[in-house]
Parts: sequence; structure tokens; C-alpha cells
Amino acid sequence: MIPVRIADLPGHVGATVELRGWLTGSRSSGKIAFLQLRDGSGFVQAVASHAEAGTATFDLARALTQESAVRVRGEVRADPRSPSGVELFVRELERVGSSEEYPITPKEHGVEFLMEHRHLHLRHRAPWAIMRVRDEVERAIHDFFATRGFVRFDAPFFMPTAVEGTTNLFEIDVLDDQKAYLSQSGQLYAEAGALALGAVYTFGPTFRAEKSKTRRHLLEFWMVEPEVAFLEHEANMQLQEDFVAYLVGRVLERRAAELELLGRDPRRLEPTAGGGFPRITYDEALVLLSEAGEPLAWGDDFGAPHETLLGERFDRPLIIERYPSAVKAFYMEPVPGDPTRALCDDVIAPEGYGEIIGGSQRIHDLALLEQRIAEHDLPREAFDWYLDLRRYGSVPHSGFGLGLERTLAWITGVHHLREVIPFPRMLTRMHP
Ligand code: 4AD
Ligand code: MG
Repeated sequence: MIPVRIADLPGHVGATVELRGWLTGSRSSGKIAFLQLRDGSGFVQAVASHAEAGTATFDLARALTQESAVRVRGEVRADPRSPSGVELFVRELERVGSSEEYPITPKEHGVEFLMEHRHLHLRHRAPWAIMRVRDEVERAIHDFFATRGFVRFDAPFFMPTAVEGTTNLFEIDVLDDQKAYLSQSGQLYAEAGALALGAVYTFGPTFRAEKSKTRRHLLEFWMVEPEVAFLEHEANMQLQEDFVAYLVGRVLERRAAELELLGRDPRRLEPTAGGGFPRITYDEALVLLSEAGEPLAWGDDFGAPHETLLGERFDRPLIIERYPSAVKAFYMEPVPGDPTRALCDDVIAPEGYGEIIGGSQRIHDLALLEQRIAEHDLPREAFDWYLDLRRYGSVPHSGFGLGLERTLAWITGVHHLREVIPFPRMLTRMHP
């Protein structure tokens, strides 16, 4: 008998099939037992009646404990009352792997307990739904760029230099006395890629030694960083809008059931899928903040509370552009005629999820870039190859970085970034 996945059961109504999976829970009354099964593709209820299954099978069904692995053969029957639309009527049952005293019981467990048992917690419904949304978003990232002719370009993870400032680098010993850092951004390499291949994107783990313990920071997160030759600031913002609208649209289209399981109202996401993100300047954001009773001085960077306040005013992501150069990275192109501001932008998610994208046009003038490297006290030798990109056929170019976990936390509506990555790495958690 060919095994059938739970997700495919509705196509087999009336047939007798084999299902392989695990027991998430059960109850029995009299001569009938209800088994809740999962197989990774979905969840379904199996019904074992003493009359139809026989004594041995019925007794085994009642004896099975939570997370026992099973092989079940039975008839698929339509059941409009069940979420999956079907039920399985058990004929044969086999225990493949036993499970004694499974630690995550149906009672309420604290977050720390669940994170300590993350290797098992991933089997449960909410993490299951979130990981499926994550998978869909990752796939959508590749599809979006592939259909636009971008080349995936893998940046190294051992870095000789800082990209986004030196405060949050993880320093490592490579060999002998040679030091390196774990990558905090693939951007500089993506720039070399853009000048070689036109339009590229990197996508991989990113490491930042964040000292702050917030719900928005992980030590290890995934970032996608497109970089495009001849692309300028305005078009860069448009690319970001199209990208985020596409990712959200894909989840609404293909992962509606998972959002529902998570209790996430799709109407909160629908405006985003339509594009048309509001765009304001940093200066205009300051005005909004002071109206909201959170005044900042010109030149101050936004903190999480400011981003939350600004993001909550709109029903879709907010683009804030032209920040003061002083609060941004060394490589950002200045606004023409105004070196105090940069041709950059951040995308702020609605509902308090904060910044999901940071991007900019890059300095393409050799002398200006050399000057910025000196002003930022960066080691000139380490950037020699990067300066070469400005020596040989330099062109205006732009790119951005989207934080996968920030984006996923917002899309799935979960509070903390640790929920949206299989095994979170934080100051307070390295295990399992
Ligand atoms: O704004 P950031 O620092 O930008 C860069 O790294 C640029 N080099 C990107 C580029 O232009 N190619 O980081 C980009 C995004 C942030 O907007 C945020 O979504 C995410 O990365 N991010 C984090 N996500 C989780 N945990 C952290 N500690 C994060 N730090 C940044
Ligand atoms: Mg940023």
C-alpha cells in the first residue's frame, strides 16, 4: 500500500490508505478511540472503533502515548466537521517508535520551557505553521529575484572587515594568530557581484553581537541583500516596495491556512500586498514624532519606540528616506547638494514590528569613498579591493538588506523573533 500524506488525504476519500506519522493526542469513550495524528504535512483525526478494528488494534490505539510514531492503515471518509475535511477509520495500527513521558504536555508551558525543548516544540502546531510560512517566504525570495533576472551570489561568512560598524562584531580566531569576523552583512561582496553580474542577491545567516536583549534582535539571523548596478535611490525604494508586497502576497495566497492556525488576521496584511507604501523623509518623521509627543533633535537616530510609533500610523510598511549621514554607514551616497543627508531609506513594518529593511545608494566616487573610510577610522588596507570597484568602471549602484526574521514575525503576528527561526541564538539562549 502506498503511503499517503495527510495533506493529500482529501483526494483519497473512499480509499484505504497507509498513513505514517505521530500521535499528538487521543481520547476514548467506550468502544471508540479518537487519535490525533500529524505527519509533518498536516493534522488529521483517526477513529478506531472496537467493532471495525478488532480488539488488538483497539487496545493498542488506547494504549498509545503522546508522540508515539505509528503506521496506520484505514479508510478515508469525508467529514465536513473536521478542519482537514476528512477522517481516517482505522483498520490496522502499528507502533513504530514508542514515546514515554513526552515533556510537552497539553498543559500551558512557559516560553523558556518550550525554548529549552525547541527540538521537540517544533513538532507542535504553531511552530509547524510558522516554519511553513518561513519556507514559503524563502521560496518567494528566490522566485522574486529569479523572475527579475537577478543572480544569487553567495558572500563569505569569514570577513576581514566590518561593514556596518565595529561595535557588534563577533571576532574569531581562524588559524594561528589570524583574526576574522563573522559576517554582519554580505553587502560589500554583493557590490562586487553587481558590477560583475548586473543584479545579484545574497541570502544567508548574518551575525551580530547585539548586547541588547530585545524581542527584535537575534545574534544570528538571515538577511537577503540585493545589489544592482546603475540602480539609483528612487528605483531602489521601488524595488523594496515591490519585493515586500510580493512576499506578503505569496503568503496570503499559499499559506492562508497557516495564518489562520496562528490566529493571524489576513486583513492586516492585505494592504501591503497591494503596494503603495507611504514614503516620508527623516525630517518629516521628526515632525510626526513630535506631534505624537516623542520629540527628537535633528541628527538623533530612531529607537524601537519611535519606529513603533511611526509604523503604527499606517496600514502597510512605511518608507523613511534621507537620514542624517552621521547615523548611517560610511558607504552611503550623500543627497546631491546636501552632504549632511544620505540617499538611504529604512522600511518600517506596521503594528510595532520596527525596521525590516535598511538600504541605500552607494558612494561610487573614489575620492569621496576614500575620505569616508578615513573619517570613520576604518583600516584603509582592508578596503583596498572595495575601492577597486570605484577605480575600474565605477557606476551608481544601490541595494538593501531585508531581515528575514523581522519580516516573518510581522507576517505571522508573533511577538518575539525567537519564534520564527528553528533554533534561535540569543544572549540568553544557545541551547539546544
Ligand atoms: O539595516 P542593516 O544593518 O543594513 C545592512 O546590513 C546593510 N548592509 C544592508 C544592505 O544595504 N545591503 O540590516 C538590515 C536588516 C534590518 O533592517 C533588520 O531587518 C535586520 O537586517 N536586522 C536584524 N534582524 C534580527 N536581529 C538582528 N540583530 C538584526 N540586525 C539587523
Ligand atoms: Mg538598519
